[in-house]
Amino acid sequence: MLNFDFYNPTRICFGEGRIKDLDKLVPANARPLILYGGSSAERTGTLAEVKAGLGDRDALQFGGIEPNPTFETLSKAVEVVRNEGVDFLLAVGGGSVIDGTKFVAAAACYDSDPWEILTTNGAKIKSALPFGTVLTLPATGSEMNNGGVVTRQSIHAKLPFRSKLLFPQFSVLDPTKSYTLPERQVANGVVDAFVHIVEQYLTYPVNARVQDRFAEGLLQTLIEIGPDALKKPDDYDVRANLMWVASLALNGLIGAGVPQDWATHMIGHEITALYGLDHAQTLAIVLPAVLEHQREAKGKKLLQYGSRVWGINDGTEEQRISAAISKTREFFESLGVRTRLGDYQLQHDTIAPLIAQLEAHGMKKLGEHRDITPEASQQILEACL
Ligand code: NZQ
Ligand code: ZN
Repeated sequence: MLNFDFYNPTRICFGEGRIKDLDKLVPANARPLILYGGSSAERTGTLAEVKAGLGDRDALQFGGIEPNPTFETLSKAVEVVRNEGVDFLLAVGGGSVIDGTKFVAAAACYDSDPWEILTTNGAKIKSALPFGTVLTLPATGSEMNNGGVVTRQSIHAKLPFRSKLLFPQFSVLDPTKSYTLPERQVANGVVDAFVHIVEQYLTYPVNARVQDRFAEGLLQTLIEIGPDALKKPDDYDVRANLMWVASLALNGLIGAGVPQDWATHMIGHEITALYGLDHAQTLAIVLPAVLEHQREAKGKKLLQYGSRVWGINDGTEEQRISAAISKTREFFESLGVRTRLGDYQLQHDTIAPLIAQLEAHGMKKLGEHRDITPEASQQILEACL
């Protein structure tokens, strides 16, 4: 096992009806700003419930944070925070709203140009406003981690940032708030959580037995509940399990003490930034190709994954590795998330701009061995067609 620090201060308030606890969770004398997305929070009544939960506090609202939140929109929220003396942020939504809120929390306290937060991966953040979240979409794990991803629309750059100051103080996880999700977003959530686990698990063995078993248990749970999450939108147990798996998939626990990959995510971010695909769609396309490209370097873990997660125990090692990769692709497809660039009308000519963007963003040595160069990314993307 590798050396590690594990630190996660986020309080999780889990279960139906927990939004009313906001009154206890948000400081009594706070001047909060509620941040939310397009229309869903208002339409579903969650926003009204949140306002009621805040009681007498003089809460302001900032709506319109888009999926793949933009620097441009978030900069407007930063202005509101500064002009109105806001001292607490409350995100109500999915990963985009929560990531956006993290950015606003840091940018509102930032001395220089806040774009630097993204060009330095958050390294220079010295303070941030406190914030909490009410999760409406189980997927990203943003509700229980200290990272985010923000897009600068004008230059098609989608970049990650993180800071130990950007853990939510609390997150309300009420599974019933996910009942209104469209199928596409539920499927996206299952795929995103699945790939988060794989990015931290499918590398090379370091004898981290607990992390491996946790990761395998989370993957098996997703495989078990994924189909029902789509078929039975108001099944509390299914949605409760999905919500907790998605949080545990990226809260630092399974990634502590193990090598991590993240090549699929970095390549995927460029696809979203240039061509607008959903985050999870890009992962479903790129992951099978990354696993294929890295089948030798990841061989031992691919065999373990095949056996323990999918029950693949017959055939030669090469056959078992191929079967494990096929099972992964089939799982994504079974949820209705297509796994080829061509399925989204992206042809060969879309690859060169993606490689140029990866280079422009310094993504030249990806993967757990830092050996996915732009040339390797090119091969991976060609295999995604
Ligand atoms: O905008 P509204 O109208 O609210 O609709 C949203 C949005 O269109 C809708 N939605 C959310 N909750 C709903 C609902 N519709 C009905 N009922 C509900 N209860 O769902 C749509 C997608 O929302 P979004 O927040 O964009 O989805 P997701 O949670 O998948 O977040 C994706 C973003 O998170 C980033 C991604 O890159 C992407 O920008 N990620 C953040 C990570 C992190 N912070 O750790 C890790 C991930 O790898 C990921 O990169
Ligand atoms: Zn993701």
